Amino acid sequence: MTQTAPITNILETSAFDPIAKEDPHARLKPLREQCPVFRDEVTKTWMLSRYADVRAMVNDRTLWRNGVHAEEGSFARFLLNADKADLPPGERQSILTMDDPDHQRIRTPLAKALYARVAKARAKIDKIVSDVLDTVQAKASFDLINEVAIPIPIVTIARILGVDDTRLEEFRDWSEGLILGLNPVRSAEETAHMERSSAAMDAYFTELMAARRAQPGDDLVSDMVALQAEGAELRDVELRINLQALLVGGNLTTTDLIGNGVRQFLLNPVQKAKLVADPSLVPGAVEEILRYEGPVDVTGRVLDRDREVGGCPMHKSQSVTMSLRGANRDPEVFERPDEFDITRKGTPHVSFGGGAHICIGAPLARMEAVSFFSTFFQRFPNLRLVDEPPQWRALPFFRGLERLRVEA
Ligand code: HEM
Repeated sequence: MTQTAPITNILETSAFDPIAKEDPHARLKPLREQCPVFRDEVTKTWMLSRYADVRAMVNDRTLWRNGVHAEEGSFARFLLNADKADLPPGERQSILTMDDPDHQRIRTPLAKALYARVAKARAKIDKIVSDVLDTVQAKASFDLINEVAIPIPIVTIARILGVDDTRLEEFRDWSEGLILGLNPVRSAEETAHMERSSAAMDAYFTELMAARRAQPGDDLVSDMVALQAEGAELRDVELRINLQALLVGGNLTTTDLIGNGVRQFLLNPVQKAKLVADPSLVPGAVEEILRYEGPVDVTGRVLDRDREVGGCPMHKSQSVTMSLRGANRDPEVFERPDEFDITRKGTPHVSFGGGAHICIGAPLARMEAVSFFSTFFQRFPNLRLVDEPPQWRALPFFRGLERLRVEA
């Protein structure tokens, strides 16, 4: 296919770019229409933005995820921890960037234990949401991101893991520090906070694992050390890295699901009225927030062999970036794609990726959001937006608000 691309590299579709930061679809719509299979020679990757191509690629379990397979000079390869290149895969990275057999070996027991924990967590999550909302209930105005949407996922994951109440404040600080790792252009002070947090979290998980081996509790860390004792092939370092990955992967994203959703409802009173009138619409509304304004822009794979996509020949070891956000607004698949409609039925979004790497935290994120949107507007029926235009974060490949000031 001959390309006439409206962008020169994929960062122009991310919050690094001033236009995309305000409206990513100002970049993604022309890209999908004019060059749905785009070759970026700057970061050395392909970018796919049509739903059919993205869905096929994320679901393909034969592809690689680990950037070690990616061509020299590619961004996918650069993202590897070069200083840890000599360590075995399980000791330098989480399941997010591992391939089989190690990916399956670690993910399968972790997913089984996490899903079982999540399945019985609804009452606990309802209580966390209610307690957090109590802290802002009497305020005339508050920042929904910092006061509500940040604490909910952090406290939830802390409870699931079994973090002691006395350590909750520190855990929150470390969780916020870890997330700074997602920002490639953080300040020296932020890097120091991130490194301090990662070391502290590592030490804390070591302590927690030892404590739960001595005396099991009703939590995920106890489940994981019990699986080890039963013979699951899981090293302590692998467990620590992947427990941290649950925080890095889950906290900011779930914050943004809540924040982006509240803003959409405040901009769309008709949709908000429907939600409040019919609680059975809540799960579908959460899916529509994920489709319309999902927290994550992209995911990636590395080609395990030569292939052709949309008439473009691709080669083994080339990296492929899938625009989840672009795919979720593809008019070939979604009618009126730019309309926020919580009663929408039909094709599912790709906001959690797919295949072997599909988001392990999706059931938890969904449960937190369903719990939140089941009560929020009942408790705050007259809320108004204060910050318009919105204050989007400048973090590339994630979409969420820096703050969302609302008035009761
Ligand atoms: C709305 C919230 C969330 C969104 C939009 C989201 C999105 C994603 C995406 C797009 C991927 C990559 C999937 C792929 O490449 O096919 C992913 C993977 C992952 N997510 Fe999430 N996520 C969310 C919440 C969570 C939560 C709550 C957790 C932890 C409890 C979590 C932990 C992870 C982990 C560990 C992976 C790597 C899985 C693997 O590679 O096997 N995420 N997520």
